[in-house]
Amino acid sequence: MSLYEDEFPLADDVYYLNHAAVAPWPRRTADAVASFAQENMTYGAQHYLKWLKVERALRESLAWLINAPSFQDIALLKNTSEALSVVAYGIDWRPGDNIVSYADEFPSNRIVWESLASKGAELRLVELTTSEDPESELIALCDEHTRLVTVSSVQYARGLQIDINKIGAFCRANNILFCVDAIQSLGALPFDAQKCQADFVMADGHKWMLGPEGLAVFYCRAEIREQLSLNQFGWHMVDKPGNYDSTEWKPSQTATRFECGSPNMIGVYALHASLSLTQEVGLDTISNKLFKNISLLIELIDNIEGSTLLSPRDRARQSGIVTFSIAGADHAQLYHYLMKNGVICAQRGGGIRFSPHFYTKTDHIHKAIEILGRYNSC
Ligand SMILES: Cc1ncc(COP(=O)(O)O)c(C=O)c1O
Repeated sequence: MSLYEDEFPLADDVYYLNHAAVAPWPRRTADAVASFAQENMTYGAQHYLKWLKVERALRESLAWLINAPSFQDIALLKNTSEALSVVAYGIDWRPGDNIVSYADEFPSNRIVWESLASKGAELRLVELTTSEDPESELIALCDEHTRLVTVSSVQYARGLQIDINKIGAFCRANNILFCVDAIQSLGALPFDAQKCQADFVMADGHKWMLGPEGLAVFYCRAEIREQLSLNQFGWHMVDKPGNYDSTEWKPSQTATRFECGSPNMIGVYALHASLSLTQEVGLDTISNKLFKNISLLIELIDNIEGSTLLSPRDRARQSGIVTFSIAGADHAQLYHYLMKNGVICAQRGGGIRFSPHFYTKTDHIHKAIEILGRYNSC
């Protein structure tokens, strides 16, 4: 049995192709949470200093994952949406400013920007579905009033990978802030916050990082950290958080300035364990194995009568997501049929979205396609 099989003892009748939604935990994560629960039951927080070491180690793992210059650039927030809100409500918008993004972004990367209309900021959107060259079209929509460009590195519905290096270089050269929602990349594909020149990167841990919901990484480039005004305050975000008697305070110089109160320590233990697997396997191995699974899925889907692949065929544009439609099928019904038969997936982007991970077994992919093939005869 390979290490990965032992780490993912999924139930026999489960074919898990839904990592772009919520992933299963590796065994080590379940073990870490169980032993943390046991420790809380028997010792309470007696060993809090040890917990803080795990929290620090998690920041280091996340800095490694996105190639941040330092673990001190990493804030631990509740989720991607919260991090996007921290950015949106931290910028001093001026009437006439605009924000440029894609029309097909996940709602969290649209709604918060729309909410800024009251501050005079306008959201401009590029239609992705009809675009031949999404980066150039996005760049063409920017002008001298563009304050921020915000994109997902991988589009959630059909898995299109965006060339964030190209957009980031344009933004930096034109003094535009660049925000990257990386939730559909981190843990699946190599990611480099410095290379893509992102000012902000955010992602919750419950998808490709194989962690729990409710704990997200938020990176803010150190040079612009103080430009973001703060909207959440408390004992934890100050320069000397243990100094309860002092009435003097300043926001922390580090990214902890974005964390107002007590950390989600059980989430810290869980995500730390999950990322230890990511580090052990390595992102090159993870993405290579994932792309093999994606190629196999595409090959098998192409063989299905009436199927249309809605995800990219070009490897540079691909990710861990394969979305397809079947001519004449009611996709809501097809989705329920698949879920009922153990094929865990999602209905997105006008079809069915499959998202395996690096550890997904080939025979599980074949089995999922076999179940899909039986749909019409039901
Ligand atoms: C691209 C993208 N951004 C944001 C989210 C939501 O993230 P969260 O629940 O962490 O706010 C999702 C969830 O599917 C997503 O796909």
